Amino acid sequence: MSAPEAPPAAPPREATPIEPLRAESAGPEPACAEPAREPGSAPRRLASATAAESDAGPDAAVHPEGLAGAGLSLDAFWWVACASEELPPGRALRRIVRGEWLALFRGPDGRPAALRDRCMHRNAPLSCGKVEAGRVRCPYHGWLYDPSGQVVAVPAEGPAFVPVARRAARAFEVREQQGYVYVRLAPPGDLAPDAAALEPYRYPRLGEPGWRRVRLRNRYRGDMTHIAVNNIDVTHTPFVHRGIFRVERQQPIRATIRRTERGSVHVEYAGEDSNLGWFGWFLNPGGGPIEHRDNFHMPNVTEVEYVFSPGKSLFIISQAVPEEDGHTLLYTDLLYRFGAFSAWTPLDWVVRRVIRAQGQRVIDQDVEVVRWQAEVVARYGEEFHNTAADAIQVLVESIAAELRAGRDPRRLPPRTAELTFRV
Ligand code: FES
Ligand SMILES: [Fe+2]
Repeated sequence: MSAPEAPPAAPPREATPIEPLRAESAGPEPACAEPAREPGSAPRRLASATAAESDAGPDAAVHPEGLAGAGLSLDAFWWVACASEELPPGRALRRIVRGEWLALFRGPDGRPAALRDRCMHRNAPLSCGKVEAGRVRCPYHGWLYDPSGQVVAVPAEGPAFVPVARRAARAFEVREQQGYVYVRLAPPGDLAPDAAALEPYRYPRLGEPGWRRVRLRNRYRGDMTHIAVNNIDVTHTPFVHRGIFRVERQQPIRATIRRTERGSVHVEYAGEDSNLGWFGWFLNPGGGPIEHRDNFHMPNVTEVEYVFSPGKSLFIISQAVPEEDGHTLLYTDLLYRFGAFSAWTPLDWVVRRVIRAQGQRVIDQDVEVVRWQAEVVARYGEEFHNTAADAIQVLVESIAAELRAGRDPRRLPPRTAELTFRV
């Protein structure tokens, strides 16, 4: 994904303790037993697959979109495959990213590796195998693969074994930073230079003094972009999260919206005072004006930033990762700095539990409403009649539409809009 606003050149600072990701309401994990899927439904490719791909052979079928010279493929972006702590050394893990079944494991140097989850012998899933000294052994007949996908031992061949290049499993580019393992599905040699230069999302605030982090992972039924716009949709909050996170007051809020040439949408709100429902007593006991900014960064990142007062801020950052069959994993990082409340560890122990519990409650409500929406869209198709307040969603969807078409949204002209709506 692009690094939308002047990505920091410095290496990531990890001074902020990274609490283990907690997966709530995640549903069936796509482990070796069963990929995430509704009971009885047949596996199918992602909706973004095009008709042309079916003629392109089995590997191309999953990842067809244009690479070099053909705009910008979603497979050129870096997608979260798992949280770092979900992948301890010596263990293989299956994850599904955009229809690709991945066997993740750590190599001899501890760095993560991602192979297509298909043994080249007779196609057992490698993620069900054992990891031995940084190499994964197929659970069926014991072929041994290194992190590059090369077969380095075939027990049935014994000492006569010699490496054969065409037996290699497909390996994907992997990066690990800021507590996440990212994977890029497009073969590096196929990427145009500006696609190859895309970097994994870089979390702001992480490692800065006073900032702490709570992480959640949830599985949605629904489209990645619908989930992303839900994250930055203000007008749903008094209805979906009534009493937890805003109550309806018909208060006018002004918004300045900007679509940039970086494939991002920025929104700056003005006139918003404390209307934080249940959270208000804690986040903004004085009830004064608050700063609120929302950002979308292509293809799947949303940021919601609140500054309640100097030194008291909340940054909610989400990355939506399509699996398959309409399942999408949402990784949510709640970055916060609440002055003395978060600085003093015993008090922060309480604070982070409140944030985790309330954050999860809000997400549970979003999971439900997005599922309802997905069911209606699946039945009748997508036909939206937007209000002025939906300009944010419309601009995000304009970026998503370019990506679905294989075009680079960075070529869209910048757009700015000022609007007022009521919450
Ligand atoms: S299927 Fe993997 S070793 Fe036979
Ligand atoms: Fe919501």
